[in-house]
Amino acid sequence: MKNKEPLILAVVIFFSLVTYYLVEPYAHHVMHKHVDKENFEYKDIAAFAGNGNAKNGKELVMNNCTGCHSINTLDVAAPMDAVTSAATYGVNPPDLSNAGIVYDAKYLAAFIADPAKAANVSHKFSDTKPHPMPAYNWMEPAQIADMVAYLQSIAVSQEELTPAMAYQDACGRCHAVSYENWTQIGTKPVFKHEKDSLAFDIKVLEYQDSIKAYMGKLPPDLSMYIRSRSEQFLFTLVENPQNHLAGTAMPRVGVSAESAEKVIEHMRDAGDTKRAEREAVGKNVMFYIIIFAIFAILWKKQVWRDLH
Ligand code: HEC
Ligand code: HEC
Repeated sequence: MKNKEPLILAVVIFFSLVTYYLVEPYAHHVMHKHVDKENFEYKDIAAFAGNGNAKNGKELVMNNCTGCHSINTLDVAAPMDAVTSAATYGVNPPDLSNAGIVYDAKYLAAFIADPAKAANVSHKFSDTKPHPMPAYNWMEPAQIADMVAYLQSIAVSQEELTPAMAYQDACGRCHAVSYENWTQIGTKPVFKHEKDSLAFDIKVLEYQDSIKAYMGKLPPDLSMYIRSRSEQFLFTLVENPQNHLAGTAMPRVGVSAESAEKVIEHMRDAGDTKRAEREAVGKNVMFYIIIFAIFAILWKKQVWRDLH
């Protein structure tokens, strides 16, 4: 009897490869619009000379920005709590302690000069309904560069910036991550009394009402997005939300390439907590399958030897 097994194996391999390399990518292409990465270069924003004077910048930041923003590492508190801020501005202005490292420098300068334009959300605002953060384009570009230099001088180093910090600064005011107990007003503490826990939840709901009114809808909880969307999607969405969701209210937040990597890392930490174990187990499983296959082949030979 002629041995048909190699032929069967070849057919199975052929169709697996066709599915994997042709059918699946085609289906993916049809379902998801392809958006190329721009490597967080923000090419539409003019080059930024930098070279600011941090000492000058300190005075400008303290006089212009701390009326709305906190700088926690310097014990500069925001004038209002998160819920009241959101009732006033639609969203809580983020803490500026690490703005100098979280955001791309060129973007940060452009954002200070004109927030709605830099964030690609001009279509959401008008003269009668301006962006809640004033544009500082009445200042000299050199003064804006001074503020950027100051914000860079007070920020932690790239090594000290954790994925959670990057996430909280760049996304946390809009997106909860319930798997990490993160709400838009901070990490929910463990309360001894149910009453206090409910009081906290009510504050979150009040905050969410404000942000819903500001954005038109509640930004989704991001706990599971690392699983429901590809990483390519998440990177290119953060880079420029308009590329995926034309007309969306989600701003381009202007993170640097390093911070974007950290933001996504935080989303992996939240939605895919077992990935280190899984990868380790994967190797063992492969090893087991190879050993098992060898035994299976030997056993098959043994069984068939007398029958042929
Ligand atoms: C009147 C209040 C107000 C003042 C004054 C103000 N901001 Fe803001 N700022 C906001 C609000 C509100 C947001 C959040 C807007 C949003 O997410 O849609 C914001 C967002 C930001 C962000 C986040 C940018 C991003 O891409 O997500 C930075 C950085 C920032 N402000 C820096 C500054 C600096 C620097 C100054 C001073 C020159 C300043 N702000 C002055 C209200 C203010
Ligand atoms: C000022 C508020 C705001 C900030 C800051 C913000 N987002 Fe969003 N985000 C939104 C809103 C609003 C939506 C809903 C958009 C829509 O459906 O048009 C959204 C939607 C999303 C979605 C879902 C997209 C989809 O396909 O449904 C993801 C993922 C996301 N944001 C990730 C992020 C990440 C990561 C950051 C930080 C780098 C961030 N967002 C910062 C407001 C924000």
